[in-house]
Amino acid sequence: MSVYILAIESSCDDTSVAILKDNEVLSNVVCNQQVHEAFGGVVPELASRDHLKNIIPTIDLALKQANVLLSQINAIAVTRGPGLMGSLLVGLSVAKTLSLTLSVPLIEVNHLQAHILAHFIKDPHLDKKLNFPFIGFVVSGGHTQLLLVEDFFRYKVLGETLDDAAGEALDKGAKLLGLGFPGGPIIDKLSQSGNPKAFCFPKANVTPMHFSFSGIKTSLLYLIQNEEKNNPNFINENLYDLCASYQYTIVEMLIDGLKQAIQHTKIQQIAIAGGVSGNSQFRKRLLELSKELNVDIFTLPLKYCTDNAAMTGIVGYYKFLKKQFTSLDIMPITRWEGFQNIT
Ligand code: KG4
Ligand code: ZN
Repeated sequence: MSVYILAIESSCDDTSVAILKDNEVLSNVVCNQQVHEAFGGVVPELASRDHLKNIIPTIDLALKQANVLLSQINAIAVTRGPGLMGSLLVGLSVAKTLSLTLSVPLIEVNHLQAHILAHFIKDPHLDKKLNFPFIGFVVSGGHTQLLLVEDFFRYKVLGETLDDAAGEALDKGAKLLGLGFPGGPIIDKLSQSGNPKAFCFPKANVTPMHFSFSGIKTSLLYLIQNEEKNNPNFINENLYDLCASYQYTIVEMLIDGLKQAIQHTKIQQIAIAGGVSGNSQFRKRLLELSKELNVDIFTLPLKYCTDNAAMTGIVGYYKFLKKQFTSLDIMPITRWEGFQNIT
């Protein structure tokens, strides 16, 4: 018999609800919050207020699009963390309420595990050849993490960022350049008209398989401050080249770290996930890397790269099969260190 899962994701600034029938996504509604644009970054209090406003209509829409009734739902999957406390609390409270009133189990989901397991969604655009063990690479606004994925529930952290995440560096760089939020997709677009070698930004020198992105943001700041002394129009006159060069260096740092992980583990299957994995330069370099090292690199359709509840639902599905349910008294975990507690 099929399992119907209602999944809720509210870890940061997007309210998302998905309905899954087994490993197939029937609907995946993502409600983006526009309120943060004026601030150049996510304002946690505004994010939780917007989640509160959006969550019920998003659930209604997801059920309607899936043509499924609440009474058909067999389990509620919800992101427990990592993420913003207020945002997580909204999703978790609604999930608990649904679980209680429908008398169906509650399933807690780790957001990073969800990014990776998005690769197991049944979708005609997803390659089915991904086998365990593989290297998982989550590159998002909150995380840059290389994982050894042994099976659905066993992960080892190979390396991660020591400070900012790659997406955060793109968003902060965009803010320095006076662009909108989130900055990653804007930099991606503008870079296509720029020269990636026009400006030279330093790559961080860190332990193999680790990353650091706070330095590059500072070097962009210093470059702008120095150049604007002589030319107040510096940014406008060089915007495309600045974007292309900044993005190029961040992508090269990501590629360097991934290369080290492939060489270290000798694993030839890699699954890329997270918002930044939608970046066109990153995807181009991943394709080149797969040819250079003769490895299989799997990327996701864009709708499953950025935050979405379908990926929360797929973790819910695999946990449902193992009857890994949780009690109603759980609280959000804002910093979910490592992967030791996700079974
Ligand atoms: O996975 P995600 O939606 O949320 C987190 O879990 O953080 O990732 C959001 C991040 C933001 O930093 C955003 O700027 C970045 O992903 N992003 C991109 C692109 N699309 C989203 N960065 C570069 N190029 C893109 N096309
Ligand atoms: Zn995410």
